[in-house]
Amino acid sequence: MKIGVIGAGYFGKNHVREYFNAKHDVTVCDLKQENLDAVKEKHKVNTTTDLNELLNDTEIKAVSICTQNSTHFEIAKKCLEKGKHVLLEKPMTLDSKQAFELVELAEKNKLVLSVGHIFRYNNGLIKLKELIDTGELGEIFLARLVWTNLNEPFTDNRDIYFDLGPHALDIIYFILGKLPNEVSCRGIPSRTNASQDETAFINCKAGNTLINIDVSWVTPEKKRTVFVVGSEKSALIDCMTQQITLINNSDMTEKNVFVQASNPLIEEINSFVKAVENNHKTVSDGKIGAEIVHLIDLCHKSVKEQKTISF
Ligand SMILES: NC(=O)c1ccc[n+]([C@@H]2O[C@H](COP(=O)([O-])OP(=O)(O)OC[C@H]3O[C@@H](n4cnc5c(N)ncnc54)[C@H](O)[C@@H]3O)[C@@H](O)[C@H]2O)c1
Repeated sequence: MKIGVIGAGYFGKNHVREYFNAKHDVTVCDLKQENLDAVKEKHKVNTTTDLNELLNDTEIKAVSICTQNSTHFEIAKKCLEKGKHVLLEKPMTLDSKQAFELVELAEKNKLVLSVGHIFRYNNGLIKLKELIDTGELGEIFLARLVWTNLNEPFTDNRDIYFDLGPHALDIIYFILGKLPNEVSCRGIPSRTNASQDETAFINCKAGNTLINIDVSWVTPEKKRTVFVVGSEKSALIDCMTQQITLINNSDMTEKNVFVQASNPLIEEINSFVKAVENNHKTVSDGKIGAEIVHLIDLCHKSVKEQKTISF
């Protein structure tokens, strides 16, 4: 298939690599010639610095959008208006009204709109969801997510809720099959040169399940873990290795659950291409992306008003 990748910075280069390896005909668009030169050195792809050139190429059926968050809405809208199927990186937009507008536009134009919620393609989390759905863990009492690493303070005004929040919040949505109905959030720009919150505790409730998410750019330890405590068993998953430890609550014995790790980006891209070919939704559909952006709006509201938001 003829595919466009818009934005070939740090993460866009990964999209280019996977489409290229899957033998698609790839056109890459970036404002910076040096990024285009870098992808051209590695893969046989077409390149342009002019977004309109890509948009006006009617043979390009589908695009990945991997530009900075603040540009997602405008670029995705243009692509959908031009009849392109879209895989839009997370966070879908920085405003939930705009996110739902994109969902409507895709529906109206009968186009696939998928979001880069890559953890829905992580075999460890898929297995965890299965353990929850089959009742192996019992009633789910709590979930604790640690999503931390050390980063320099960002200069482009992005905050921790929009940067690390989408993955952690969507994992909750994915494994529990429901969105939280209550959120209470506390965050701070820890370092003096940080303009936005760069470490936060997001507390939520989804039905009777209590959730605590620790997101941080100031913690010198890269962690991507989910610990789910059920009435019968508990499960700890390292989302980077995709390995699960299952703990029997009654005697605290532990066992490893075998998981064949997936390459989530390859799975995400293949699922998008299949959805385009067969005209169906992906498991990381645009509506899910919009719901998560709405949840992040509520996190911001909770921080600003220093209160619990129920909805
Ligand atoms: N799913 C994940 O796990 C994951 C991981 C990292 C980043 N991301 C997301 O990927 C996106 C990109 O992040 P990044 O770290 O690669 O950013 P980046 O700044 O490294 O790259 C963005 C690129 O987009 C280009 N660009 C901006 N506007 C453009 C336009 N109008 N036309 C063409 N190119 C344009 C820029 O020149 C730049 O090269 C972000 O939304 C980020 O949240 C997702």
